Amino acid sequence: MKDKIMISRLANKKILLGLTGGIACYKVADLCRSLRKLGAEVQVVMTQSATQFITPVTMQALSGNPVYTDQWDTRFANNMPHIDLTRDVDAILIAPCSTNFMYKLAHGACDDLLSTLCIARPNHVPLMIAPAMNVEMWTNPATQRNLAQIKQDGLHIFGPAAGEQACGEVGMGRMLEPSDILAELEAAFQKKTLAGKQVLITAGPTFEPIDPVRGITNLSSGKMGYAIAQAAWEAGANVTLVSGPSALTTPYGVSRISVQTAQQMHDAVMAQLNFRRKDIFIAVAAVADWRIANTSDQKIKKTADSPTPQLVFTENPDILANVAARKDPPYCVGFAAESENLLEYAAAKRIKKNVPLLVGNIGHQTFGQDENELVLFDANGHQALPRADKLSLARLLVDEIGARV
Ligand code: C5P
Repeated sequence: MKDKIMISRLANKKILLGLTGGIACYKVADLCRSLRKLGAEVQVVMTQSATQFITPVTMQALSGNPVYTDQWDTRFANNMPHIDLTRDVDAILIAPCSTNFMYKLAHGACDDLLSTLCIARPNHVPLMIAPAMNVEMWTNPATQRNLAQIKQDGLHIFGPAAGEQACGEVGMGRMLEPSDILAELEAAFQKKTLAGKQVLITAGPTFEPIDPVRGITNLSSGKMGYAIAQAAWEAGANVTLVSGPSALTTPYGVSRISVQTAQQMHDAVMAQLNFRRKDIFIAVAAVADWRIANTSDQKIKKTADSPTPQLVFTENPDILANVAARKDPPYCVGFAAESENLLEYAAAKRIKKNVPLLVGNIGHQTFGQDENELVLFDANGHQALPRADKLSLARLLVDEIGARV
């Protein structure tokens, strides 16, 4: 968790967390804790309905601040909590946001503390909501009308998700999980350097089978590629991640296509490019240069008289070079994992692969690690990014790519 605090965009942010009536209030206890762990300061305000689901005492303990529920709270010397509570916040997040509260936001109602402070917030304070309600309430035309209105008013809408609901029905209206709300919140504080761009990324190792139970792979974990996918989504891109075998969770907002071999990765990338034009292709995967030509359909048996198996290799397609060689290619970014002479080898690799930007690192210092050191090579020379955790580097790299496309 320590490195998370270091890298979170929510560190030192002041968030006004508003709770309205809904069973999802219990999840917001966890959200509140996570916000504080990431270094944010949290001020909770609850509607009367919310207090039916979780107590202000619980939220006070978790947020470390007094909780306000009443417009007429005399703890404010000037008796104006609806003004004072929002003057120094970085964002207001309403989670869960009920159908009724969406109606109030759409119509500018001011009939309790939370609705009044939303209207009274300064213009620069973003208002974000995580709706949570029964599927029929969500799909009701009145709710959808209110949704369209608050979208037009510039509110950020996080979710909802589809799935099983507390009432037993199934469908759209579940509140996003706290981790997904945090991802949305982090992204809301990110510069949109790739707004609207279509981005395709490869990540992770590949696995080249020898027989049905054995194969050849490498030590890549996928962490760098997944971090870049997350950073690109945060920067406003539509991101597709073609991933070799990796234990990592797909970043929120990113579509992932799972593959095993280099050939499958190649085919998935080409299919994506043929399906829809991409603006940017970032090849982060540690792709096997060779695959085994004489694979066995059966498990190779070791018996007393069997000869030692002889593997025959054949070359895999170079995905990055093939993408760069297409007619009207996307902006291509390659990676070079070297074990020595990084500056010389990486600069040569950029020219050989014919890509405008190549990112160099030292392979054995990055594979599986949480931190990395990157050097960017382009037509103008090279530039080192400072050693940092992979997500921070990914965000810097995405900004660099955004400035170039
Ligand atoms: O030639 P080398 O494997 O060092 O090149 C590394 C770069 O090329 C990385 O961006 C990697 O993802 C990409 N690559 C590829 N297909 C291959 C081999 C490497 O896309 N078969």
